[in-house]
Amino acid sequence: MIPTPPPRHRLPHAPAPVCWQDEPRTPDRPPGPGFWAVTRHADALRVLQDPATYSSLPGPGELPLLRRLLSHQDPPQHTRLRDHAARALTPERVRRFTETARERARTLLTRALDTARATDGVLDLATTVSDPYTALNLADLLGIPHADRRRLPGWTGPHALEDTAGYAPHLIVHRRRYPDDDLTTLLAHNARLTSDELEMLVPLLLTTGLAPMRDAAAGGLALLAQHPEAYRELRDDTAELDLAVEELLRLHPPLLTLRRTAATDTELSGRRIRRGDKVVVSLAAAHHDDQVFTDPDRLHLARTPNPHLALGAGPHLCLGADFARLQLRVLYEEVLRALPELRLAGPMQADGSGVTNGVASLPVRAG
Ligand code: HEM
Repeated sequence: MIPTPPPRHRLPHAPAPVCWQDEPRTPDRPPGPGFWAVTRHADALRVLQDPATYSSLPGPGELPLLRRLLSHQDPPQHTRLRDHAARALTPERVRRFTETARERARTLLTRALDTARATDGVLDLATTVSDPYTALNLADLLGIPHADRRRLPGWTGPHALEDTAGYAPHLIVHRRRYPDDDLTTLLAHNARLTSDELEMLVPLLLTTGLAPMRDAAAGGLALLAQHPEAYRELRDDTAELDLAVEELLRLHPPLLTLRRTAATDTELSGRRIRRGDKVVVSLAAAHHDDQVFTDPDRLHLARTPNPHLALGAGPHLCLGADFARLQLRVLYEEVLRALPELRLAGPMQADGSGVTNGVASLPVRAG
């Protein structure tokens, strides 16, 4: 069967596992050249794990700034830069973050619950808890001064990359003058990085670490609010939280698609792909591939193995994956502690494009 994502994320026309999609003009977008949509898990892996055939370099017409980004480069340039960033974001640094994240989740939850109980008994778990939680965690990781943190929500919008690229030089100067225990300080004191590379890495971390993290946290909580029995399983310790984190990422991948460009003429699942063609991997579809996931529409918190691709695969596998998993686990633990039941108090509002999968509002009952 051809994997199909849930209705909200359906491709307009997907008659085969790899199929051509036109990109007609829409009210907010000029017409595009069209692309190959890849919907099967095995094909998705083939594309993501083969950068020589499926390049991450930006296509013509894409933001020139993208060309400088690590995420938009191919090996070997990509490998060198990635190694520098990975050496700064060590598992040890991530582990040390646990208590800070926990403290933050508790404080935000207590404040939101107190306000809800003093008013209408309803709190918005996305806007008052998970959004600030994920943004402030990233601010701590990158050493963003408190005075600048009000700018964080603006860095998830359509001009995030330009805005953060404009901000990065200030942050780098600041952290050279006032070093601290953060990633920017470490990278800014790495003599083997050029200033150009440094001014690319900081905005990359700021953009890749902000919106997908926010959307994963709110999306996971939204799924739990929609599945009270699953929430109870977690609360009563009958489901393992680490496995649940993975399953929530599978059913709510914050990035719905990953884009590549064919670097050579090639063939995928019987389709001839030409050099220069755009190839778009649909994670939403691959996560519903019943050749890999039994009963794929079902939220099954104990699902194992769970080879979802929400954090990517191959050489561009999410660099912040450990940090992301830690934040999700700690947030869910603290919500479970604070709220014996997670009950929706009104319709949740989705927020996103065909590429991102966010939650604008998640009203739940305070108790
Ligand atoms: C649950 C939250 C997150 C999700 C779902 C997510 C997802 C992804 C995905 C799918 C990719 C691969 C993109 C591609 O192959 O084209 C990626 C790459 C990346 N992510 Fe994440 N991410 C998350 C959190 C974070 C965080 C918190 C950070 C930083 C602290 C981060 C930093 C990066 C970086 C730097 C890359 C580029 C890696 C490379 O190109 O080698 N991500 N992420």
